[in-house]
Amino acid sequence: MRMYDIIVKKRDGYPLAKAEIDFFVHGYANGEIPDYQASALLMAIYFQGMDDEESAHLTMAMARSGDMLDLSEIDGVKVDKHSSGGVGDKTTLCLIPLVASCGVPIPKMSGRGLGHTGGTIDKLEAIEGFNVEMTKEQFIRQVNDIGLAIIGQSENLAPADKKLYSLRDVTATVNSIPLIASSIMSKKIASGADKIVLDVKVGSGAFMKDVNSARKLAKTMVEIGKNVGKETVALLTNMDEPLGFAIGNALEVKEAILALKGEGPKDLTELMLELGAHMVVLGEKADSLEEAKAMLKTNIENGKALQYFKRLVEAQGGNAEVIDTLSFKEATYQIDVFAKEAGYVAEIAADELGRASMLLGAGRRTKDDVIDLSVGLYLHKKVGDRVTKGEVLCTIHANDENIRHIKKIIENSIQISVEKKGKPLIIDVIK
Ligand code: URA
Repeated sequence: MRMYDIIVKKRDGYPLAKAEIDFFVHGYANGEIPDYQASALLMAIYFQGMDDEESAHLTMAMARSGDMLDLSEIDGVKVDKHSSGGVGDKTTLCLIPLVASCGVPIPKMSGRGLGHTGGTIDKLEAIEGFNVEMTKEQFIRQVNDIGLAIIGQSENLAPADKKLYSLRDVTATVNSIPLIASSIMSKKIASGADKIVLDVKVGSGAFMKDVNSARKLAKTMVEIGKNVGKETVALLTNMDEPLGFAIGNALEVKEAILALKGEGPKDLTELMLELGAHMVVLGEKADSLEEAKAMLKTNIENGKALQYFKRLVEAQGGNAEVIDTLSFKEATYQIDVFAKEAGYVAEIAADELGRASMLLGAGRRTKDDVIDLSVGLYLHKKVGDRVTKGEVLCTIHANDENIRHIKKIIENSIQISVEKKGKPLIIDVIK
């Protein structure tokens, strides 16, 4: 087999066979296929696309390029959740104890990542002492003992995807639906999930800016799941405005704890219940979404969900007292941004607030940047809320006094109009 012929075949619009996809992925991961040929194939895929079968083969080839976590020693159906990423998205933090409290085992592997804030693993490190590293045996034992565990992604998880992603990043081929879908699904499958719930974000603060592309991405991932025998459900959810009020690591952990206490923002609570209900049904702990939602609500009200979060924090060496006290390390300066006119909040540009949060130091620009866990933004208003002139719209939590540029970004990102507007949070469910 020759890489040249594979490039020609895809360039001319023909589907690749499994053996050709395997040859490419293994060859590139092992350094036998040079960057220039891999780049040519990626660009051909970018223009010609891939059908569902090709996407499934690409997914499995990348998943098998490294460790495939075997979670068969954990009883029950293991349901994983993935978000395509959004501003203020702390859902995983509250979702995993909540779903575990309904009896679905949660062995969660999560990433750090680049962006406006840290990933779930970085956020959890805002809890003093929380340890995200353990052996596979300890990980499995903890899930069997207390129902849930969370660790950082292993270095050797889908290494072919890691290498290809870096190449896509510099060859303008990131934004291809089959490539994004197989990249995400390869990591979920290598992490040992039996079934998968996806939160595909749509809007200014998301990878996918419009509903049609997001729906296409969601359908591709659901089909990959079907093709590889892992039932997958995808929710399309709005990311035109940030999720909840908090953006920033410690601020988001605090908000997630409030959500587990039944005191969280309306949108975060709705998303947590919706994703959670699908996870509980896929995990075979309820027969319908209504039944699952009732179980989730009960466990928020009776404190069981919060108890599971405490167990998780204690088991992983964290200081569980913060769950009651909510006293996280605060940033030195808290600076308010005020409404310049009265009306209704019409728009809160999620992408711009994400950028402001990264400039404050809450996220990484490059993988070696160190995150400041205490900084971020706290919104006091959401889209559709009424505001009076001079009311606080947002508080900036900063460790640097010189933040005029951040204030400007926020002032320009929050639009006020005379009309009340708003979009539904859950746009569609794709199975
Ligand atoms: N997230 C991933 O893991 N892969 C992509 O290609 C895009 C987003």
